[in-house]
Amino acid sequence: PSAGCPEDWRAIHAFCWYLDGERRNLLPTIDRKWALMDQNFLKQQVADAAIERVAAHPDDLLVLGIGTGSTAECFIRGLERLKHRIDTTVSSSERSSDLLSEMGFSVSDLNTVPRVDIYVDGADETNDALQLIKGGGAALTREKIIAAVAERFICIADESKRVATLGAFPLPVEVVPMSRSHVARQLVKLGGQPVWREGVTTDNGNLILDVYGLNIDAPLEIERYINDMTGVVCNGLFAMRPADELLS
Ligand code: A5P
Repeated sequence: PSAGCPEDWRAIHAFCWYLDGERRNLLPTIDRKWALMDQNFLKQQVADAAIERVAAHPDDLLVLGIGTGSTAECFIRGLERLKHRIDTTVSSSERSSDLLSEMGFSVSDLNTVPRVDIYVDGADETNDALQLIKGGGAALTREKIIAAVAERFICIADESKRVATLGAFPLPVEVVPMSRSHVARQLVKLGGQPVWREGVTTDNGNLILDVYGLNIDAPLEIERYINDMTGVVCNGLFAMRPADELLS
């Protein structure tokens, strides 16, 4: 097999299983590559589905909001064929803006566009109510702002991100640097274990606390409660503004 898609890796796996013991030792390596390819394949699939949604929009020229992360990057690379339909883009990170500019797309300041027709972005966790945890890439604040403006928010998150109750993925919280310890103490009182994502500064010049072990059975209330902590810029729960559509 050419090993170009998950089906090829499944075939290689099956073939190796019939080999002698020594060569069977290859299986863990093959399985790791297979899992990675499977996930990349799923990311590409949801990104392609989002391209189709954008293509089906009734307007000829669109202002497109674009998120951050590996799934969003699959989406950006697929946008080439819709270039003639994109008036301009707004993006949730310097990283995505750079990629869009490299590909020849106009990237605008959100303050200068009259609207955002569609916002397409990934997520770290999704639930059945289309509420999300985002911010694994530290871009949560800009993501939340674009989602708030967008007429339609399409979330592209493969099925591996789907959970019954949000919170297995540590909840990112963006904080003003001088408030880091204060906010961390408040998060401990809430029942979480905050961990400072050392070495990371957000595009807005702030820090990230990743909160483990939070019981997020009431996402709306927890989102509001954390937002109200002095020093918090934003938290990665998207419950007040969930996705309008989930492609998974
Ligand atoms: C960026 O801050 C995040 O909200 C991303 O949307 C999220 O981490 C998903 O990233 P992947 O598509 O790389 O899994």
